[in-house]
Amino acid sequence: SAMPGDSVDKENMITCTAPVNIAVIKYWGKRNEDLILPINSSLSVTLHQDQLKTTTTVATSRSFQEDRIWLNGKEEDISHPRLQSCLREIRRLARKRRNNAGPGFDATALSHKVHICSINNFPTAAGLASSAAGFACLVYTLARVFGVEGELSGIARQGSGSACRSMYGGFVQWIMGQQEDGKDSLAQQVEPESHWPELRILVLVASAERKPVGSTSGMQTSVQTSSLLKHRAESVVPGRMVEMTEAVRRKDFAAFAELTMKDSNQFHATCLDTYPPIFYLNNVSHRIISMVHRYNRHYGETRVAYTFDAGPNAVIFTLQQHIPEFVQMVQYFFPPEINGGQFIKGLSVDQAPLSEEL
Ligand code: ADP
Ligand code: DP6
Ligand code: CO
Repeated sequence: SAMPGDSVDKENMITCTAPVNIAVIKYWGKRNEDLILPINSSLSVTLHQDQLKTTTTVATSRSFQEDRIWLNGKEEDISHPRLQSCLREIRRLARKRRNNAGPGFDATALSHKVHICSINNFPTAAGLASSAAGFACLVYTLARVFGVEGELSGIARQGSGSACRSMYGGFVQWIMGQQEDGKDSLAQQVEPESHWPELRILVLVASAERKPVGSTSGMQTSVQTSSLLKHRAESVVPGRMVEMTEAVRRKDFAAFAELTMKDSNQFHATCLDTYPPIFYLNNVSHRIISMVHRYNRHYGETRVAYTFDAGPNAVIFTLQQHIPEFVQMVQYFFPPEINGGQFIKGLSVDQAPLSEEL
């Protein structure tokens, strides 16, 4: 440890958090693997950071020999192309900034290596968008360390496609873009969180296990083998993007909910249409789907919607006034069973309000 008077290396360390986002119009399939350019636009809701979030610390120091990263306490391979893309692009912006800025700009970090430490407070790779919160947080924190500002969703996108949408709060679209270089494939806020304060999100955790097929490789196989996916991207999603944006603008819950459920179901249908097929939903997921439809049918009105990403865990949308009754029903149908002091069955219910801006 350093004694007073010893020369201490100047260290720069910043910690930031980023929220998960859940797509209501799903992204599934790339037209360019390296730049991460999608075959369709998508639209999501960013969760509040109190619930599902990534916390990332980035330190720079003259004494660091290499860039390194630890994920949930375990060192990962920094040479992963997506990590390299994010580091390269942020440093490129930082050099640009340094070259344009006057002598007041502190560019010390640019000559240093970084150590990155990232922790998710929820299951990683279980279909709860850890790659979205993870890469959004990485890019945001790196930008702070290197003094970079401005549009960063294009860099987050190169870490994980869904990550570009976590750079904004509220309702966010990722416009697929047309350009070969991907410069117009960016996220954009559709409405802020404050637009629809009555909307509530519940996360029902059916399994915290790592999914057997990651999103990246799953969608690759789908692009190669599913004609349903091609049809969806070309002929279904463009219309749904317009309808969904309108439903959100009007705060039309029934329209929002029905589109959300249909899009989730079509996404999982493309997974089944993939060869060999990919199964992300399990029995609990199927029971949740039936329960939601039964609930809505009982009231003759669409009060609750489900959506599932690439995993069995349900994300439920409803309005504030229906929360107590719905949660009671979930606990009735999925009671926690105690076995040796451990909860082995039942769903953990998490209430997550929407997010402010990052
Ligand atoms: P998910 O449904 O959780 O997004 P994916 O298959 O899309 O699952 O991505 C999981 C991968 O995302 C992890 O294996 C890891 O490589 C990356 N990832 C997850 N969390 C972080 C994080 N906090 N920082 C950097 N990368 C992360
Ligand atoms: C089902 O963004 O995780 O959650 O771009 O390969 O990292 P990569 O994939 P990822 O895919 C997310 C797929 C999804 C739908 C969505 O979030 O839009
Ligand atoms: Co992901």
